[in-house]
Parts: sequence; C-alpha cells; structure tokens
Amino acid sequence: MDGMIVEKRDYLAEDPWTLPLEQMDVGRSILFQHDAFWDHFARLRRDCPVHYCGVGEFGNYWSITKYKDIMKIEANHDVFSSDVSMGGITLRDQLEDFVLPMFIAMDPPVHDAQRAAVQPIVAPENLARLEGLIRSRAAEILDNLPIGETFNWVDKVSIELTTQMLATLFDFPWEDRRKLTRWSDVGTATPGGGIIEDDEQRKVELLECLQYFLGLWNERVNAPPKGDLISLMAHNEATRHQTPMEYLGNLLLLIVGGNDTTRNSITGGLYALNKFPDQYTKLLANPGLVRNMVPEIIRWQTPLAHMRRTATQDFVFEGKQIRKGDRVVMWYVSGNRDEEVISNPNELIIDRERSGRHLSFGFGLHRCLGERLADMQLRIIWEEILARFGRIEVVEEPKRVFSSFVKGYEVLNVRIPADQVRKR
Ligand code: HEM
Repeated sequence: MDGMIVEKRDYLAEDPWTLPLEQMDVGRSILFQHDAFWDHFARLRRDCPVHYCGVGEFGNYWSITKYKDIMKIEANHDVFSSDVSMGGITLRDQLEDFVLPMFIAMDPPVHDAQRAAVQPIVAPENLARLEGLIRSRAAEILDNLPIGETFNWVDKVSIELTTQMLATLFDFPWEDRRKLTRWSDVGTATPGGGIIEDDEQRKVELLECLQYFLGLWNERVNAPPKGDLISLMAHNEATRHQTPMEYLGNLLLLIVGGNDTTRNSITGGLYALNKFPDQYTKLLANPGLVRNMVPEIIRWQTPLAHMRRTATQDFVFEGKQIRKGDRVVMWYVSGNRDEEVISNPNELIIDRERSGRHLSFGFGLHRCLGERLADMQLRIIWEEILARFGRIEVVEEPKRVFSSFVKGYEVLNVRIPADQVRKR
C-alpha cells in the first residue's frame, strides 16, 4: 500500500441528493451529532424507501424509512426478531463477550412474561400516586433556576427531573442518584464520542452498576414485596431466577428507557418552541394546549432514532430480497417525518390534530412500557414551567449526542429573562 492515499469520507460535506444510493449510510453517528441527516432520509423516502447499506459503520443493514413499512416490520416478529442472540435491537451489535439479555431484546414467550413482571410500575393507580411527587419535584427544580443568567437546561432541568424519577422507580439511594445518570449515558454511548473511550471502559463501569444493584436485590429479595422495580423483579417467577447479566440487561433497559428518552423530550420541547416562536406564543396564550403539545414534541424530537430487528429467514419485503441474518433498521426518525402520513411533518404544530399519531414509542408487542409515565412527566413539567415563566430563551444551538440511536442533547444553553418571571 506504499504511497497509496486512502481517502476518508467527509460525511458532512456530502450532498445526499446526488450521492449514489449504494454509498448512503444514514446510520453514521456523526450525521446525528451535527443534525445533518434529515435530507438523507428524505432522499431515501423518495428514491429508495427500503434501502440496503453495504458500507455501514457497524456492519451492513437495511433501512426502513416509511411510516407504514415500519409498522409492517414491527408487526411481523416471527420474521423480524429482537432476540439478543441475533444481535439485539440497535444498529450496532451487542459485544460478543459482554452479552446483556433484556426483555426488549427477546421474543415471546419470555419477553411477555418479563414485561408483565414490571408492568405494575405503570398501572394507573401507581401513576396517580406518582403525579403529586413529580409535580412537587418539578416545582422545586424550577424555583431554583437562575434568573437572567445563561445555564445548561439539560443538566439543571431535564437530567435532574428524570433522574429523580428513576431513583423513585427503583427506590434507589437518593444521594447516589446521579450514578443512574452516568450508567444511563454509558449504557448507550458510542466509544470515542466523549462519554467512554472504549468498550473496555463500558464493561468496567457497567459491572460496577451490577455490583451496586446486586446489593439492592439482596435487600429486596429477603423483604416483603413492594412496588419498586427491583422488588417487582425479585418477587416474580419470570424474573427472580435471572442471571446477573440478565439482571444488568433489564436494569439498563429500565434506566435508559426511563431516563435518556424523557430527558431529551424535555430539552427538545424547549428547543422546538424556540425554533417555532409562533407556537410558543400560542402556548403562552393558551396553556391548556400542553396536553396536545406533549405527543407532538415527542414526535418532533423522536428521542430514539431507531430500533433494529434481525431477519430469521429469507423474506421479500416491498420487492426487496432480505436474507436470513440481515439487520433491519426501522428509522422512527424518518417515519415521523413521512409526509404521506403526517402533514407538514418538519414543523412543530402544538395544536396538531391527532398529535398522538407517531412512531416514537414504537408499535406492537415491544411498544414502550413507560409511555404514560413519560407523557405525564412532560405534561407536569410544562404545566409548572408555564405557571412560573413566560418565554425562556435558547441562547445558542445545542450540543448534540454522538449517536444514531439516542437522539438527544448534551448541552442546551438558555436564559430566563427577569421580565419573563411571573408574579405569584
Ligand atoms: C419520551 C419518552 C420515551 C420514548 C420516546 C420511548 C421509546 C421507546 C421505544 C421506541 C421502545 C421500543 C418500541 C418497539 O420496539 O416497538 C421502548 C420500549 C420500552 N420503553 Fe420506552 N420510551 C420512553 C419512555 C420510557 C419510560 C419513562 C420508561 C420507564 C419505565 C420506558 C421503558 C421502556 C421499556 C421497559 C421498553 C421495552 C418494552 C418491551 O420490549 O416490551 N420508556 N420505548
């Protein structure tokens, strides 16, 4: 290879409208970090809605980009499996020497039994019990925000509220709750993206997480059953015999599920309202729109950009020959902008009709377990924000996460002007 110059692709400089289809690789983390993927998906929806990428960062994969096609894949779990032994539910395969089984990455019947074990956490009576608690915590967080100064909304509001909630769901030692934030970040981080250096570091930190939670398990398994997630698992036939790695897998599922997603919706909502100031004006004039706005924010943000399945057999889908073992990636972020199903999909419209029609929570038997809890947290935080403040200003573009799975923000600098604080 002496003297041969191997050119590195500059993904951000490429024009997705002229790039040959066989070179398109929409799953590159860098495109997400720079919010530069929208036209890539628009091109695929127009020219090649079921697209094969043979040059992927994490291996080859099919992209499913249209709303209705995503629903078809979700509904066919015999052919499109979630099972961890086939690679799991993200574009990037799980590490072979560090496999974490978890019920989101299982097929029936084990999936169904384990899901049922933790389902009581989102039962209506439990949610009703949590509502007052979330409201008082949201109030405390908001009442302590600096006025007239620039601060990072992600850290001071979104992370704080969702981490407190997570600590409650696990009945986790309160003073150590930021450990949950760290494990959530480590659980989904792409090596080299600023959170972890390499996969070795991930293993070490996640094993610390397991160690910590094993202590809590031993406490709960020997005590009478309670309503927290650890006790629910420790006292249910479907989960009480799980291996330590399965326990760690399910913990990570619940930590990431309950944390990153809601966190990025809280941040994404404020960012979106600043991008669409007429919508912010509409909201300030009519705070009753919050209920309709919350699902619209979740659609617009799409906190998990994709879920992946693996083909269990050769299968022809929409005229394309998918082979047994192929990765099939359902891009919710693209389905949610599919103009055939959602009008003006790139815009945030807080009084949109049928705002709940979106793919952000998935579809079918893996549909998000925490949907109602997320919805409630977002509704409460917005009700409490509107009771205290007028327009909160985003002062610069956010710093985004380096990932094509978790679509979110590391930093969103904002300012609450003194004249926007309501007299109470
Ligand atoms: C806006 C917030 C949230 C979003 C966008 C979201 C998104 C998702 C998505 C896309 C899936 C996979 C769906 C599929 O494969 O069809 C999922 C599954 C799941 N989510 Fe959420 N989620 C959110 C909040 C939460 C919360 C607060 C919890 C807390 C407990 C949670 C727990 C779970 C669990 C346990 C699963 C696995 C369900 C299964 O495999 O049966 N999520 N979520």
